[in-house]
Amino acid sequence: MFGELCQEFPPVIIRLRKVSSTMDIAKEFAVKGAPEWTVVIAEEQTSGRGRLGRRWISPRGGLWFSLILHSKTGIHEKLYILPAIAGVSVATTVKDLYGLQAKLKWPNDIILHEKKLGGILIESLAVGENITHILGIGLNVNIDSTRTGLSDLGAVSIRDVLGREVDISILLKGILNSLLRYFFIDKKSLLEMYRGLCETIGKRVKIILENSVVEGTAIDVSHDFSLIVVDDDGQRQRILWGDVIHLR
Ligand code: BTN
Repeated sequence: MFGELCQEFPPVIIRLRKVSSTMDIAKEFAVKGAPEWTVVIAEEQTSGRGRLGRRWISPRGGLWFSLILHSKTGIHEKLYILPAIAGVSVATTVKDLYGLQAKLKWPNDIILHEKKLGGILIESLAVGENITHILGIGLNVNIDSTRTGLSDLGAVSIRDVLGREVDISILLKGILNSLLRYFFIDKKSLLEMYRGLCETIGKRVKIILENSVVEGTAIDVSHDFSLIVVDDDGQRQRILWGDVIHLR
């Protein structure tokens, strides 16, 4: 099964200098029939975007890429775990390559020393009869966060912490290999990995939902990767979607 599903691996990598957003370019390639696992990577994005319609600042020195996933990988059934697959892949690669204790803030912020190291964005589009999903990953790598103003926004880079620059191509390769590995891991093992990396569990949290705010303690991540919170009224809540702030 593995070989069959991964015929396109290692993937085609389209390297670009400066783009609006790799999400848009990946969508253009997907519409033109680019194969599964095609990667679009750019040195710089002028209109990078994040979750919840936020702007994603993407100067040179970061790893900004988008990956095309068609239905062949069985992605539809896995869509709800794709954020976890991506989060675990990035955090473990950063740890394996540089020994840095990258963690996850639910659902899929990559954090280091409680600051944002990277993020994950998933968008979908119809291509002919099929739905294609674009997985976008952004990581602050060789960026000086102080000079670029990113540290004022609560961000951190690998360079800030290591005190040196790293090879972005090696990091990309490591993440792609991890993605392939965690894509096909069983769900129970993935959940265990995710729980082990998720800093949100055990924290007091504030969660901004569409029309309300929940404050309480995050106690677990459920089998469907929802966040389980006991709110300040003692009620157990299952959060499927939202913006989490760690209070302490
Ligand atoms: C988040 O809000 O945490 C998600 C950030 C995702 C950023 C990446 S960078 C590569 C790809 N292109 C984009 O415009 N966004 C994603």
